[in-house]
Amino acid sequence: MRLSIQSAKGGVGKSTISMNISLALAERGFRVLLLDRDNVGYSSRLAGIEEPGLLSSVVDGVESKFSEHFKYKKGSITVIKIMGDGPRYDSDVKKLMNELDLKVRFSELYSSVLKSYPHDYVIVDNASLITFDHDMVRLELTEYQKNYPNMPVRRIYISNNSELAVNETLSYIENAERKTTVGKAIGFCINLIAPGRESYAESLLDKALKRTNFNLGILIPFFEEVFQYSDEMTSMPIMPGIRKLAEILVYNPSLSERVILRE
Ligand SMILES: Nc1ncnc2c1ncn2[C@@H]1O[C@H](COP(=O)(O)OP(=O)(O)OP(=O)(O)O)[C@@H](O)[C@H]1O
Ligand SMILES: [Mg+2]
Repeated sequence: MRLSIQSAKGGVGKSTISMNISLALAERGFRVLLLDRDNVGYSSRLAGIEEPGLLSSVVDGVESKFSEHFKYKKGSITVIKIMGDGPRYDSDVKKLMNELDLKVRFSELYSSVLKSYPHDYVIVDNASLITFDHDMVRLELTEYQKNYPNMPVRRIYISNNSELAVNETLSYIENAERKTTVGKAIGFCINLIAPGRESYAESLLDKALKRTNFNLGILIPFFEEVFQYSDEMTSMPIMPGIRKLAEILVYNPSLSERVILRE
């Protein structure tokens, strides 16, 4: 399964959750590919990738070590830094899209790294508000699917615990899902739930699941131990709800009945 982690708002925990799911799946012995499509490259940095991402190295015509592979418990994680070099992102994408040579180089390099790291699961850490009509989103996914045409594509949307954020997320979901023809959205996650706000989060989640018809709801509390985590990825604590999520992805991926993960 290729699971894309998306959100309308920034800072709601996409990167944290992406890294955490990758760890939870690797812990079970799987080979996980974590695609860092975030402009700031948080997960790449925690994976120890210090060099430019694939996009900017292709645009600049320089060699770069834009991926990192490491063992984790019984499994392994490969991180590919796709962009992650900050504000130059927009101009890099324009250059790439306007020059066929660069696009071809991007595809070749990306395919070769994908081939070097066979995997069981893919987790995609995104920038906020991405939709399928963004050039990089389409290019990356299309290239991925040339290499792994049978990998099922799924999406989970993350919000924080406020009505405003949930409403923004619901409009984003409507827009994003209308624009994509690939795979399906399966879950809604409310992250960063402060102590005492659990029942409020439950009621927001209930509304979100009714509106979207997703069968997977996830409630994640604020965890002091992961807040502003900046150590290496392999030492990051795995949040209990994310461990349960990994179990669901492995044993009940079809999600034919509603599942709510708490804690
Ligand atoms: N459940 C949690 N408990 C405590 N802190 C959290 C939790 N989830 C995320 N955080 C913290 O919230 C901040 C934002 O998280 P993160 O960078 O993962 O969000 P993001 O959605 O990827 O942001 P961006 O839109 O900038 O990519 C970080 O400091 C992170 O440590
Ligand atoms: Mg992020």
